[in-house]
Amino acid sequence: MKIVIQPGPAEAAEYAARIVADAIRSRPRPVLGLATGRTMEAVYACLVQWHHRAGLDFSSCRTFNLDEYLGLPASDVNSYRHYMNEHLFRQVNIDLRQTRLPDGAATDPAAECERYECLIADAGGVDCQLLGIGQSGHIGFNEPGSDFNSRTRIVELSPVTLRQNAASFGGIAAVPRRAITMGIGNILESRRCVLLATGHAKANIIAAALEGEVTTDVPATALRLHSDCVAVLDVAAAARLNQSKPRHPAEVLSGKA
Ligand code: F6R
Repeated sequence: MKIVIQPGPAEAAEYAARIVADAIRSRPRPVLGLATGRTMEAVYACLVQWHHRAGLDFSSCRTFNLDEYLGLPASDVNSYRHYMNEHLFRQVNIDLRQTRLPDGAATDPAAECERYECLIADAGGVDCQLLGIGQSGHIGFNEPGSDFNSRTRIVELSPVTLRQNAASFGGIAAVPRRAITMGIGNILESRRCVLLATGHAKANIIAAALEGEVTTDVPATALRLHSDCVAVLDVAAAARLNQSKPRHPAEVLSGKA
């Protein structure tokens, strides 16, 4: 795994956004794997800006988001569909029909998981997968204990994740307990992975993910098994890495696989 350390969250987000923009420019019909959450907002802001100022063209992009809360319809302001529409899709020239998220309101969620798997396969897999990391070590909503071969499925959110996401729901009681997420197996099949983490609150879990034992207890450690994964961090998120004592904040380090 390659590790890139940038001075602050804005620079880290821009670095990650450049990788996504390169993926868009380098393929005739790029397939992007997308994530939500606070960290990604700055990435989408960069992409939107480059669309408006530099003509970054989303018209041929197809996208698959990692996850969606179970029970939330697309119209719910806390749904990840709503998030994606607001932060990216409605601000660029993407064909909304080519943007996919699991349907959190599906009447048959198990069938929805199978349908999502088929859609990803039909698209030929994901070219570039953007990922954040939760305090639990989750990627997507693959919580501790998730098998590294796991596929799109219904999952229970961990107490750590419920607490992490409580604010936007106005309290932990209102956070949906379950979600549909792409599995770690799906994530590892993407041709390129970009993990973005910023801020002090992520320093401990980033150290565990990038330098601790590879274990299903810390799902993000699976990314070290991927042949083309870059972790983009700011100095704060990198602070607990043993190998991160950069002489220059933008120094690029090669991590141990
Ligand atoms: C959401 C997702 C999650 C988030 C993670 C970090 O689609 O994939 O794994 O990336 O929970 O969220 P923030 O950025 O809010 O800390």
